[in-house]
Amino acid sequence: MQVHKSIFALVALTVIFSCTRRNVSSTVGSTSQVESRIESILSQMTLAEKIGQMNQVSAGGDVNNYVDALRKGQIGSILNEVDPVKINEFQRLAVEESRLGIPLLVSRDVIHGFHTIFPIPLGLAATFDPALTEEGARVAAIEATAQGIRWTFSPMLDIARDPRWGRIAEGSGEDPYLDARMAEAMVHGYQGRTADSTSMAACIKHFVGYGAAEGGRDYNSTFLTERQLRNIYLPPFEAAVKAGAMTLMTSFNDNDGVPSTGNTFVVKDVLRDEWGFDGLVVTDWNSMGEMINHGFGVDRKDVAQKAVNAGVDMDMMTFGFVSHLEELVKSGAVKEKTIDNAVRNILRVKILLGLFENPYINVEAAKAVQYAPEHLASARKTVEESVILLKNDGILPLNGTPRILVTGPLANAPHDQLGTWAFDGEKSHTVTPLKTLQERFPGRVEYVPGLTFSREKRSGFADVVAAAKRADVVLVFLGEEAILSGEAHSLADLNLKGSQSELLAALKTAGKPIVATVIAGRPLTIERDLPNVDAMLYSFHPGTMGGPALANLIFGDVNPSGKAPITFLRTVGQAPLYYAHNMTGRPYNGETLLDDIPAEAGQTSLGNTSYYLDYGAYPLFPFGYGLSYTTFAYSCIGLDKDTYKADDTISISFTLSNTGAYDGTEVVQVYIRDLVGSITRPVKELKAFERINLKSGESRTLTIQIPVQELAFTGLDGIKKVEPGEFRLWVAGDSASGTPVSFTII
Ligand code: NOJ
Repeated sequence: MQVHKSIFALVALTVIFSCTRRNVSSTVGSTSQVESRIESILSQMTLAEKIGQMNQVSAGGDVNNYVDALRKGQIGSILNEVDPVKINEFQRLAVEESRLGIPLLVSRDVIHGFHTIFPIPLGLAATFDPALTEEGARVAAIEATAQGIRWTFSPMLDIARDPRWGRIAEGSGEDPYLDARMAEAMVHGYQGRTADSTSMAACIKHFVGYGAAEGGRDYNSTFLTERQLRNIYLPPFEAAVKAGAMTLMTSFNDNDGVPSTGNTFVVKDVLRDEWGFDGLVVTDWNSMGEMINHGFGVDRKDVAQKAVNAGVDMDMMTFGFVSHLEELVKSGAVKEKTIDNAVRNILRVKILLGLFENPYINVEAAKAVQYAPEHLASARKTVEESVILLKNDGILPLNGTPRILVTGPLANAPHDQLGTWAFDGEKSHTVTPLKTLQERFPGRVEYVPGLTFSREKRSGFADVVAAAKRADVVLVFLGEEAILSGEAHSLADLNLKGSQSELLAALKTAGKPIVATVIAGRPLTIERDLPNVDAMLYSFHPGTMGGPALANLIFGDVNPSGKAPITFLRTVGQAPLYYAHNMTGRPYNGETLLDDIPAEAGQTSLGNTSYYLDYGAYPLFPFGYGLSYTTFAYSCIGLDKDTYKADDTISISFTLSNTGAYDGTEVVQVYIRDLVGSITRPVKELKAFERINLKSGESRTLTIQIPVQELAFTGLDGIKKVEPGEFRLWVAGDSASGTPVSFTII
């Protein structure tokens, strides 16, 4: 049994969360029974049948297309079929009409919910609540497995530090520690703490570095050094492997010239040999074939050889394995034992999921669990914890029953509030802010959309301004639609699109309080819009239950507690800007900004430090930032010792006080800085966090424990270890606050 490296405990109560190795259904037997069962099946398979297991195809809705291939055992997995009747038929052909009766792995991108859609993963990360995130993944698994889907291509663990990249929506943001905790939570949620027929294999993706695409342009090259990989991009994957993730997907990008799907170093050396991963490695969609586009292989045969020899087990939609592996084995270019290992990894997942015992699903029962009331309640609670309060001039929370103007392109956008990768979420089930408010305040809500969609350009908002004048308060919902983030949807400009900023400016002329809610797939650059609103909530696409949750937050039934899992930029030109950057030799020191530079200023008169003349050195909102309706104060921060050894645990105590008028939840964050290393170190690194509920006026003394080993990193000698020396440590409500305490490691 593994133990989480950071342990957070209330004074008297020590809570230790445990990471389990992969769960094994009680019906499938012990590890050795599973392994001997694999060997027994393998020994009966022809080479063609083995290669068939390594082939994954998109079902495309028509079972008839695949009858022959299924009977011949040429398909190991299908994706993109969600009709339970058809899934049963696919399984029947594999189980009852193929020679060995090996069931199919039926897969789908169940990314943030199946039917009940939760916030996009960036929104899940904003909760800083792994337990609730696990619950959401469990809900997704219950709904999806009921329809026969036993493998999801989630969680996405790509660290993303450039919000131009559209897929930033699909991950946990910029920080490896937060990403790792969310990764473990999702793996446990999908697969279940105790494996049963609701267990869905998780697929950690995209391995690796995909989020570092140059310029935030999707599919672009990355140039990550081995040290960056080991210190930033690999740790979330390693944590997920330790948590028992059953499968992993290789990424589209080439890193320093080597496409991931043919990258022996990351797949074989690191994943297989160092981490001992015995799960299934699948390519991304045609990422094997795309190695030809990369110029890394001459044809499908060549890239199939490179992928399988790098350690890939299953080919998603290149058809390179089914077409060429047999001849590659016969020519000796690929060893049969490589194929055998791949098939073992595939069979292992099928056995552990109990698919041999229970390949079919009950179609009628499947309907009953979709959108179950407890699933909707869990989704609503997740949105409530995920929304970030960025500004509040005192207007929020609203109370009473004011006359409300509801406006903006996202106020009633049932499809768009679901966000990217919500294939199975149906907009007919979405509850929008408008719908909620109309139901909650009958006769008190006037709706004038102003803009029908975010990109609409319009001049003059006389109708909206007139309506604002008739209201007591304006609730404006704006941002970006689902289509503007996600795969292949990068943006070079992150300001509000269309005439949304003009809408806000026009609304301000009405002189009524304005509460803006931005609904988006990434942190947009909203600096210029903030002065036009009295309060701003930021909701990463919230999913099915966005409306009720947002209303609960705006009217104070729930106090906001979400925190930024990603730095909010002032302007896109600052990208990438993230809190855990290394210190430069010339850190910013408050030098002159553009408007204050005198004419004919001498070249060196401004000082020479690291900043932009026009935008300085700081973001709009730092990582970890988020307001509450109450206020929190930290005091009496102290450590149990001044000096620690490598195998010690640091015990940090502090008092947290709710100093405001509302009960609330604070996400306590602990950051450290290693002052001197064999390589330069980040100025701050998150090492622990926890959500703490406090009543108004309540104070509590708390203890956080961080094993010194959590401070290990891969240094100049390439070995991961804790380097002795001086450290600083902050306990604070975001990455830019707090007063540090010092300690030394000997
Ligand atoms: C491509 C995407 O990159 C990946 O995330 C997804 O899981 C597969 N397509 C399957 O849809």
